[in-house]
Amino acid sequence: MNQKTKFLLKRLLYYIYGEKFFKRLDYNWRGLPSRTEIIQKIIDKKKYQNYLEIGCDNDENFSKINIASKIGVDPEKGGTLRMTSDEFFKSNKTFFDIIFLDGLHTYSQTIKDIDNSLKFLNEHGVILIHDCLPKKIWNQIVPRMYGHWNGDVWKAIVHSRTYEHADTYTCATDHGIGIIFKRKNKDRLVLSINNFKELKFADYFNNHKKFMKPIHHEDLEKVF
Ligand SMILES: C[S@@+](CC[C@H](N)C(=O)[O-])C[C@H]1O[C@@H](n2cnc3c(N)ncnc32)[C@H](O)[C@@H]1O
Repeated sequence: MNQKTKFLLKRLLYYIYGEKFFKRLDYNWRGLPSRTEIIQKIIDKKKYQNYLEIGCDNDENFSKINIASKIGVDPEKGGTLRMTSDEFFKSNKTFFDIIFLDGLHTYSQTIKDIDNSLKFLNEHGVILIHDCLPKKIWNQIVPRMYGHWNGDVWKAIVHSRTYEHADTYTCATDHGIGIIFKRKNKDRLVLSINNFKELKFADYFNNHKKFMKPIHHEDLEKVF
């Protein structure tokens, strides 16, 4: 079976068995700051000294980050350590000022990465998470369907928004950058669910501001 047939078959199966909600959010990332610009701006402003990136791939971001000390973790390529995030956190002893999560883009892995990062974050540090704002249902299907893949990382942001011990926002730039501080939640999301994986794209769309707490990149400083 060739690629095109495979893709059409996957899409057909999704139309039959998957969630049927095809409204789109009208985010447009063109002309807005990139993840690298946001990360570097925070490092410079806060005078952060050490950086951890989970998921480095071709080092497109990792190689450009200018900071005294940096560690990059990826089981495939890029960064400085060849292992999964779970393996890294299991043996890690270092604390970080800033952690960028961009590894496996599933809810289950991302919430684990968030919880582990909170354990190794310095008191005034910050965790950033890439790909939190999918525009359409196709971008967030797990496993990846086609095109830009945000995965269902957004569900980990919703979950983190319910934490008492973390304060969570999403910067609306470069496919959505989750921002998590280790401090008391200033606007805790109260939800009567405990299986966040079961959330639907329609839930994300219909409760967008409440779930994701999106902020404009120019207002980023206000939440620090
Ligand atoms: C989207 S890419 C990272 C892009 C990079 N951070 C950037 O800004 O250009 C995702 C990377 O996560 C890596 N990855 C997949 N599963 C992982 C895991 N369990 N732990 C750490 N990295 C993982 C993949 O090998 C891939 O290189």
